[in-house]
Amino acid sequence: MCGIVAYKGRQNASEIIVPSLKKLEYRGYDSWGIAVINENNIEYVKKSGRIEGEDIEINLGDANIGIGHTRWATHGSVTDENAHPHLSNDGNVAVVHNGIIENYKELKKFLETNDFKFVSETDSEIIPNLIEYYCKNVRFKTAVKRTLKRIKGNYSIVAIERETGIICASRRGSPLVLGIGEDATFVASDIPAFLDYTTNVVYLYDGDIVLIDEEISFFNLDENVEVKREIEKIEWDAEQAKKGNFKHYMLKEISEQVDSIERAITQDKELIEGFAKDIKKARNVFLVACGSSYHASLHGSYLLGKNTSINAIPVLASEFKNYINFIDQESLIIVISQSGETVDVLDAVKMAKEQKGKVLAIVNVQGSSLTREVEKYILMNAGPEIGVLSTKTYTSQLAILSLISYSVNNKYKKGLKALKALIKYVYALTSKNTREYLKKLSRNLRYVEHIYTIGRNLEYPTALESALKIKEVSYIHAEGFAGGELKHGTIALIEKGTPCIVFVPEKNNEEIISNMIEVKSRGAYIIGIGSKNIEEFDFFIKVRDAGELNSICQIIPIQILAYHLAVMKGHDPDKPRNLAKSVTVK
Ligand code: G6P
Repeated sequence: MCGIVAYKGRQNASEIIVPSLKKLEYRGYDSWGIAVINENNIEYVKKSGRIEGEDIEINLGDANIGIGHTRWATHGSVTDENAHPHLSNDGNVAVVHNGIIENYKELKKFLETNDFKFVSETDSEIIPNLIEYYCKNVRFKTAVKRTLKRIKGNYSIVAIERETGIICASRRGSPLVLGIGEDATFVASDIPAFLDYTTNVVYLYDGDIVLIDEEISFFNLDENVEVKREIEKIEWDAEQAKKGNFKHYMLKEISEQVDSIERAITQDKELIEGFAKDIKKARNVFLVACGSSYHASLHGSYLLGKNTSINAIPVLASEFKNYINFIDQESLIIVISQSGETVDVLDAVKMAKEQKGKVLAIVNVQGSSLTREVEKYILMNAGPEIGVLSTKTYTSQLAILSLISYSVNNKYKKGLKALKALIKYVYALTSKNTREYLKKLSRNLRYVEHIYTIGRNLEYPTALESALKIKEVSYIHAEGFAGGELKHGTIALIEKGTPCIVFVPEKNNEEIISNMIEVKSRGAYIIGIGSKNIEEFDFFIKVRDAGELNSICQIIPIQILAYHLAVMKGHDPDKPRNLAKSVTVK
């Protein structure tokens, strides 16, 4: 996954593009580059590493058209040459690209037999050169069209032509959105890149090519016609996408959960009840997602199983093909995704639709590919989540799934009331006091090699999500288990002092307590999360009991713990190594 920004306006392009790229570093940050059209030349800078120090002030002269890219290497190692933009041999075209060109070898061979030379190891360098190849006979826009018709795979690209100053952008299965400001047009992989300048956006559809010249025009490659795309106003504001007084986005986003949960449950009642009706009507129900969103779907499945007679099957999106024989026009598939761009999720949607299943979504990013592929969707309304780890959007997903589950039982009002009451618990959990208290625990845990997390029933998905939070940001090995499973093998790894986090509900807790005693008696250091302190706990994290809504609260101290562990170990919690916020390649 990479970040793309393009700008055409009246201001200095490099001064606008570099800070905007910095806002997309969550999409990839192993190298970066920009290119601008300056007095009939394309000037560029390409560098390995992050945008740092003086980079942010790079000024490539008085140009007001340019493109930029922050890279997450998929094809070719991390070097200055492999960083984008890539230029055509004649220097007339520069391109930034996100995605993978599957037929790259064949296209490279074709270009080489036509005397084109390559300076990088990337598949992306094919694109400006193919455009140059076609530009011999046709205009830039047509050359871009012909180039894209030859490319196999998912992509988003932006190309600029030196001679005309035209920007041409296109997407297929990878996000790209236009920002329409006063006297300025932006193209970017994600909205925060241009939120400081405009909240007017145009979402591109797959196969769209947008041409930014004196006017802006749209063409769809698949339909082979000029198309119209509407300007939409988005609700997010620039402040939401900034760190404010927080050192990191992750901490800011954890602290925002009082508001994000409130917004998640402030939904159109009819929409929620509509989802509930669809669930009741369906012959079979699947909850499909990846990563943290999958843990939310597992939770949703447990909730429905516990409170209703609905058997909703949680499925990892990447494994969905194994369920395809069960999907027909009476099936309901609810996909859950923060970004709405995860390629495995989009593939699952495609497969479900091919089988005539009814597909709905719970999603955070308005205008994302997913919102266009499904029959209807519920927006999480969490605002932009910039930190790579899912925090506020996870609790929003749980809150929405809870509301749906209440609605399936015709208890929407009761559910809403319970969720509203929960918000004051969340307030206490995100307070400075709690954060300071958890800092102590982080100090105790910072040098450990392994952490285990256990929970039963609704606390089992929480155990899985907790382990994921800890390992992805602190790089400490963490594994989550259903309380009853640890003794089937992993208990062999428990030694004196091995930390084990245990989620203990107020009621029906005998079995998890007995699991805790099993590990405690082998020397485990027990970190208990629940409403009451128990003798066996070595460290107690108090979370007021919220019954079936416990999971929304119980994950919050773990998010904070994971954050402190990362900071104490010197890691950047917003950009954990090897991870991307949304995974748009297979
Ligand atoms: C990536 C992110 C995770 C996220 C997962 C699914 O791995 O790092 O935080 O849970 O993708 O993303 P989605 O946008 O589909 O919820």
